[in-house]
Amino acid sequence: MTTNMFKLFNAFSKDIGIDLGTANTLVYVRGRGIMINEPSVVAINQKTGQVLAVGTEAKKMIGRTPDHIVATRPLQGGVVSDFEITQQMLKYFIDKVYKEAGFKFMARPRVIVGVPIDVTEVERRAVEDATRNAGAREVFLIEEPMAAAVGARLPIYEASGSVIIDIGGGTSEVAVISLGGIVISKSLRIAGDRLNQDIIRYTRDNFNMLLGERTAEEIKISVGSAVELSERLDVVMRGRDLVSGLPREIVVYDHHIREALARSLRLLAAAVRDTLEQTPPELVADIMQRGITLSGGGSMIRELASLIHQETKMPVRVDDDPLTTVIRGIGIILENLDNLQEFLTTPGRQDPPRI
Ligand SMILES: Nc1ncnc2c1ncn2[C@@H]1O[C@H](COP(=O)(O)OP(=O)(O)OP(=O)(O)O)[C@@H](O)[C@H]1O
Ligand SMILES: [Mg+2]
Repeated sequence: MTTNMFKLFNAFSKDIGIDLGTANTLVYVRGRGIMINEPSVVAINQKTGQVLAVGTEAKKMIGRTPDHIVATRPLQGGVVSDFEITQQMLKYFIDKVYKEAGFKFMARPRVIVGVPIDVTEVERRAVEDATRNAGAREVFLIEEPMAAAVGARLPIYEASGSVIIDIGGGTSEVAVISLGGIVISKSLRIAGDRLNQDIIRYTRDNFNMLLGERTAEEIKISVGSAVELSERLDVVMRGRDLVSGLPREIVVYDHHIREALARSLRLLAAAVRDTLEQTPPELVADIMQRGITLSGGGSMIRELASLIHQETKMPVRVDDDPLTTVIRGIGIILENLDNLQEFLTTPGRQDPPRI
């Protein structure tokens, strides 16, 4: 790939990076740091088409709105599912950054956006076009696992393998990285959202109770685990009784939720093992030593690292502050464009060849 794509970047340009996630969107401003960290949710008045709230405010409205107001998540499975709303959400965040940073009269920004691996050309275009329509002058894309590896400060340039697993809301991505490139990767749609659905289904089947998506997420965060814990956890679960139709609350324990999540987490761990099985033996030997790093909010399920260790026999650790690993990686790339721009792709450009 040609270099100097960014030679016009200079100390005065206010360029930004965006981790446009299924669950959360984070914005990094060059020279400033992370300025936005909010849920990827937009509340719309369907009668007028007007955007009522974006981000944290809009998430509070999920499941609580009157009929004509919908709180929607415009990304699904890591890709844009509602183009218009994604664009409006990005515009809101970019405008907010400009206002808060006092960039009123600055030129429009150049923007680096993270995209999952294995997205189609059409899906990449949707991200580029939505970002450009939201006010970007130029758009560059980066594969999220690469950004996560940079954010977790893995030794990506060395001729020895590193493994990053980014478990978000919509997708989990497993990537083996060596010599600055992705050697092998796997992307699957088992991530935080699926786990919430697992809890909703389990509660319906076992307790005859209907839970909202937000409640399911809260339960997952407060007592969710991947292997048996040393102490018992419990939480009060509130939902609607499917027989009486009335509100009801019950206490659930960590073992219930572990059972609810078991199948998805086993599939996730199996996907990691499959990826390692396809990895060249020399790299596997390196990985035995260096271990596997987890990032993304989904990696915060208690003892997920232990489950993946059991399945792979490799050392596994969770990155510090896994919800920001990808955006910190994008931030490091933005601050060091002279050395790191090789990871970026521009519209219409072919990806660098894979080893
Ligand atoms: N403490 C926690 N325990 C378990 N899960 C958590 C915790 N905190 C956040 N999550 C989950 O992490 C997910 C969000 O993670 P993240 O922000 O990395 O996703 P994303 O980047 O928006 O999604 P994607 O990368 O798939 O597009 C949500 O499903 C959320 O429920
Ligand atoms: Mg993500």
